Amino acid sequence: MIVAHAIDAVRQAVKEARSQSLIIGLVPTMGALHAGHISLIRSARQEMGFVVVSIFVNPIQFAPTEDLERYPRPLTHDLEACEEHKVDLVFAPEAEKMYPPGFRTAVEVQELQDLLCGASRPGHFRGVATVVLKLFNIVQPDVAYFGQKDAQQARIIRQMVEDVNLPIRLRICPIVREPDGLALSSRNQYLNPGQRENARALYQTLEEVRKRVEKGERNARVLREILASRIAATPGAVLDYAAVVDADNLKPLARLKGEVLVALAVKFETTRLIDNIQLSVET
Ligand code: PAJ
Repeated sequence: MIVAHAIDAVRQAVKEARSQSLIIGLVPTMGALHAGHISLIRSARQEMGFVVVSIFVNPIQFAPTEDLERYPRPLTHDLEACEEHKVDLVFAPEAEKMYPPGFRTAVEVQELQDLLCGASRPGHFRGVATVVLKLFNIVQPDVAYFGQKDAQQARIIRQMVEDVNLPIRLRICPIVREPDGLALSSRNQYLNPGQRENARALYQTLEEVRKRVEKGERNARVLREILASRIAATPGAVLDYAAVVDADNLKPLARLKGEVLVALAVKFETTRLIDNIQLSVET
């Protein structure tokens, strides 16, 4: 496994892989790798000739009030996990190499970036889109792997790829969960034992909505009220948003129809958790 910190070294390694006619897959991450990330790496390993994992805690997607400083950075553990899962190349750049003095460009995916998580994290998706476009340009993968856990992020990247005509296919992989349903996240480790217990409420509530929809409920307001009231009844949980939106344009629905994204963002003190389910609804 090659571990590259420099952009030139990545380009060189990818060029060599290409010269052997290998198909290149990229899994962008911020490290602190868990089974969710590993599921993306596994898919890439099965489908690609050459697997690149990027590990970069991207400063420009964090607001000054957020957890950039305390975000976990267990690089040795992450490199071991990559090695174990037969990654070919890890790209772990320094922030100064990605954003040298004088860096001035940003990518915005208008409208989609301002909804849901974008409403409570202004500038977040601009930082995400900018770094992902940089990673795409540095690695130039054939296929890039993302998780459905960050549904809005995946939607925004898909829009960016279409809008700027990148010849990259996206694979969006299912959410990996703890046995009690909690979606794996690098931020789960911030939770104290009581919060961890109560954090089950996110998935339980989403599943309750799924069942209501299966039984025929089509009124989005009723479903939002279920989400909000269950989170309100969970000790220590503060609702950021409860959304029932069109999975394509991310706008609120009145009645459920087609591909529907049901999404939650909930804070336990300073720890913000997100989760979602996607439903195909027949009218
Ligand atoms: P990070 O939070 O490290 O996530 C990296 C990838 O792993 C994302 O595509 C995310 O959706 C996926 N992922 C996280 N938890 C998952 C889970 N429980 N099941 C399935 N997939 C999961 O998302 C980012 O990093 C950054 O914003 C990044 C795209 C790397 C840009 O900086």
